[in-house]
Amino acid sequence: MSSEIQLSLFNEESNFDQRELIPTDAKIPVPPGTYTNMNELAQHCNQCQRCELGSTRTHAVVGRGHLKAPIMVVGEAPGQNEDETGLPFVGRSGQLLDKILASVGLNTEHDVYIANINKCRPPNNRVPTPHEMAACLPYLLEQIRLVDPKIILLTGATSVKGLTGEKRAITKIRGQWIEWEGRLCMPIFHPSYLLRNPSKEQGSPKWLMWQDIQTVRAKYDEIRQSDGI
Ligand code: URA
Repeated sequence: MSSEIQLSLFNEESNFDQRELIPTDAKIPVPPGTYTNMNELAQHCNQCQRCELGSTRTHAVVGRGHLKAPIMVVGEAPGQNEDETGLPFVGRSGQLLDKILASVGLNTEHDVYIANINKCRPPNNRVPTPHEMAACLPYLLEQIRLVDPKIILLTGATSVKGLTGEKRAITKIRGQWIEWEGRLCMPIFHPSYLLRNPSKEQGSPKWLMWQDIQTVRAKYDEIRQSDGI
């Protein structure tokens, strides 16, 4: 090997060229540590054909928020607004999600990063298939590794199933901490479920969400205190 080629192996751009060659077929794993930053991951997602959703997307929807956020929210999959803008949770559910977070002083500028199980929009907003979720999961795992959140909020049963593999009714598990890969996770209602159930009566989904987000805020404060932040 010429010394010029050897030297080029130390050059960041040439390393990234190699990553771009990683096949995007779902059968081929994306090993942990593949991406050194979110831009590389986003670039790859926008070229991805690991499942059939790649052929109908406008934009891959990777994430928004603080890239080192202590709290990460994981949704299901992009809808039309997200597919058009390339940003997660920017439609009506996203506006409600931002309000829920803001109600306890959290926002994507300082504390929160938002991503989805699936990066591409399923046609007619159908639930992603198990194959589509499995094909996309390595990207989410890389996002979790890069952001390294202390707390992960899983919005709805699809998000719980997509990340942990556990098929559980969200009404049964919301508001309870679970541990996944050494990280604290809390299943919560999906904001779109709250849009369909607007009552704020005691015991209603919105009321329960208010309890859950306060529990999350309290845990976050506890962690900050024990970390001396
Ligand atoms: N619903 C989701 O689960 N994710 C989005 O990004 C938007 C709506």
